[in-house]
Amino acid sequence: MIVVTGASGQLGKLVIQFLLEKIPASGIIAAVRNPEKSKDLAELGVQVRQADYNDPASLTTAFKGAEKILLISSNEIGQRAAQHSAVIAAAKQAEVKVIAYTSVLKADTSPLALAGEHLETEQALKASGLPFVILRNGWYTENYTASIPAALAHNAFIGSAGDGKIASAARKDYAAAAATVLLNPVISGTIYELAGDETYTLAEFVNEVAKQSGKAVSYVNLSQDEFAAALEGAGLPKPFAALLADSDVGVSKGALFDDSHQLSKLIGHSTQSYSDSIKIALQG
Ligand SMILES: NC(=O)c1ccc[n+]([C@@H]2O[C@H](COP(=O)([O-])OP(=O)(O)OC[C@H]3O[C@@H](n4cnc5c(N)ncnc54)[C@H](OP(=O)(O)O)[C@@H]3O)[C@@H](O)[C@H]2O)c1
Repeated sequence: MIVVTGASGQLGKLVIQFLLEKIPASGIIAAVRNPEKSKDLAELGVQVRQADYNDPASLTTAFKGAEKILLISSNEIGQRAAQHSAVIAAAKQAEVKVIAYTSVLKADTSPLALAGEHLETEQALKASGLPFVILRNGWYTENYTASIPAALAHNAFIGSAGDGKIASAARKDYAAAAATVLLNPVISGTIYELAGDETYTLAEFVNEVAKQSGKAVSYVNLSQDEFAAALEGAGLPKPFAALLADSDVGVSKGALFDDSHQLSKLIGHSTQSYSDSIKIALQG
């Protein structure tokens, strides 16, 4: 039995799809906060169980009979260390053979403010005594392709990433990596630094958007404060806008650079190019 937490999210759904290519649906448990909203997962034949990171009892019930667990990090920033600790405690009670966790690239040295909660979770995993694997995921290319429509509308793609080199990968490549780890024997304590095969700066990314769309759009680099204010002006809550601006400044310092190619080695093929991700996004 393989349990995927956060299975209703974008990454979780992709992991379930990859698992279904290799094992029967009866061996997969989709752990979701709200089963009512996950009818699509139930239709795939997998078991859908209720599991709220804020409700330890629900986690204990959801993990009954679990052999392996993929803990997909929560998106509730600021609450994640406690939420993930609750998942690890329930996994321990269930005596799982392995727990894999989606962390962030180079969590132990990353300048990103958001790395703190990931590092706390990694430490909790190590302290748990459970066999574990850490999937330190770099940025999803979709983080940037999502901004293409707004950039085309304003002829400008804004950020604070400077000339920082980014080795992002498509969400589906990280999902394939997680599924591969869940489906194969693991060495406890393995830490994967997962990132795309190619690197680009945001200016290069935006030039490719201009080339493929045939529209005038360029990258405009802002200071951290200006970028945070612009994101807030676009409707993002202040703390989230501040975190994103901090992340972009981290990018300028190389926080998302990686050339280890561990992701493509793990999944057995090259990662999707950023140019292909842009093409897919422009096709809508
Ligand atoms: N590498 C990157 O570039 C990047 C970018 C963004 C996020 N992330 C991290 O990677 C994770 C997965 O990415 P994603 O794209 O799949 O994010 P997503 O689509 O936002 O999915 C987040 C998942 O977390 C679940 N969740 C949130 N709070 C929960 C709770 N209290 N109990 C149970 N489940 C809870 C959500 O459940 P509901 O469906 O019920 O809301 C959802 O299934 C994110 O949560 C975040 O930690 C990484």
